Amino acid sequence: MKNQNNSIKDNNRDTLFEEKLQVVKSFAFDQQVTDVFADMIKRSVPGYESILKSIAMYCMQYTQNNSNIYDLGCSLGAVAVTAASVTKDKSCKIIGVDTSKPMLEKCQEIINQKQLSDRIQLQHTDISELTIENASVVVSNFTLQFIPKSQRLEIIENIYQGLNKGGVFILSEKFKGDQSNDEFLIQHYHAYKKLNGYSNQEIQRKRDALKNVLVPDSLVEIESRLKLVGFKTTIKWFQCFNFTSFIAIKE
Ligand SMILES: C[S@@+](CC[C@H](N)C(=O)[O-])C[C@H]1O[C@@H](n2cnc3c(N)ncnc32)[C@H](O)[C@@H]1O
Repeated sequence: MKNQNNSIKDNNRDTLFEEKLQVVKSFAFDQQVTDVFADMIKRSVPGYESILKSIAMYCMQYTQNNSNIYDLGCSLGAVAVTAASVTKDKSCKIIGVDTSKPMLEKCQEIINQKQLSDRIQLQHTDISELTIENASVVVSNFTLQFIPKSQRLEIIENIYQGLNKGGVFILSEKFKGDQSNDEFLIQHYHAYKKLNGYSNQEIQRKRDALKNVLVPDSLVEIESRLKLVGFKTTIKWFQCFNFTSFIAIKE
């Protein structure tokens, strides 16, 4: 299909915020976003591929025999699939959880194509209502930031309770900088998106759409919440601009 510029349109490329609609509607994980999500997350989250590879490494190190791995807010199952690839020698169950039906449908297609349906089970459940049990690895890769702030502590408490001794929680989030660096981080993150092919207009429109939908915590809030529920070891192992990943170990 050709677009207005007479060039071939790639239906999997994220062009959702190119159009000059009068009002930008709130961001949602609907069918439109699902269709372009793989491209969107790769071009929008700095270090995404490298974070996934590190999560694979953590799964390799921390998955216990006869335990569960949870991929909270699994979207297209990137974490679940990578976890499956490194735990073939363990008898573990991988559970992907999401509230978006279009995401789960596409995720199931991917799982079937990769012949992983015996290893990965999907659940259409809100994380705030999920029972986590017998877990050795729980991953929230850029999901908690979309859940109301008032629910975040209780969710992390449930994760802590559901983890086995020696198990880990891996949490990736976009964070809010402090007074000294917030503007710098945002400005340079936007420049990074520009380098990845988004126009200034697309960047601004996406930012408007995410307002009150993605509500970032500060690094202090993220870490203190982990400590509050009982994690004694919490390590920030990744940061690029205002994106970060932590690992919290249950002793
Ligand atoms: C940014 S995406 C996560 C990306 C994915 N983890 C990855 O690594 O590719 C956030 C996902 O969380 C899901 N989500 C948002 N709120 C949720 C909730 N309360 N319960 C379950 N899933 C939720 C969304 O539908 C979306 O698929």
